[in-house]
Amino acid sequence: MKTLPGLFENNRRWAREMTRDDPDFFRRLAAQQSPRYLWIGCSDSRVPANEIVGLAPGELFVHRNVANRVGHTDFNCLSVLQYAVDVLRVEHVIVCGHYGCGGVAAALSEQRHGLVDNWIEPIRAHYARCREAFPEGLTPAERIDRMCELNVAEQVRNVCRTTVVRDAWARGQRLVVHGWIYSLRDGLLHDLGVSRSGAG
Ligand code: CO
Repeated sequence: MKTLPGLFENNRRWAREMTRDDPDFFRRLAAQQSPRYLWIGCSDSRVPANEIVGLAPGELFVHRNVANRVGHTDFNCLSVLQYAVDVLRVEHVIVCGHYGCGGVAAALSEQRHGLVDNWIEPIRAHYARCREAFPEGLTPAERIDRMCELNVAEQVRNVCRTTVVRDAWARGQRLVVHGWIYSLRDGLLHDLGVSRSGAG
């Protein structure tokens, strides 16, 4: 049975084009990867990590989940982080959220959404802690967008508090953790100015 033939067709065309431009491309990649960046982003299909920063396969190590969370008991995320920092020796960890994030919106709503409510509970709790400081008169959409930014800053702090990053900084490894946000409306990234390096 042929399944999803269109995707296989796309794949063959893509592989053909990659080797036409660079005949050694796959041979080189198969031998090793040496990305300089780890991307921690949202699973949202509209935020394709490599594409929006113009990086080729092999240049970006990627972890994505709903609402770009970094939890200290999430062995999936921590394993990716540890491999990226200890083995691949990436120099930058980029936590990238996006405006209009459905996961963040769900955390701010009173409705039940199912299993994902457990996943986003820390965002709901974070909102409860900081909502008093929100400016007056925000629309619901602006409130969500503000929380998307605060969530990125919180996940940057979480990355910095992992044993992986603290150990890397303790042994003098160069590593910067960045907090960025992506706008679905114009495709542009914004640096939220919450970067941390070992010195900070
Ligand atoms: Co999202």
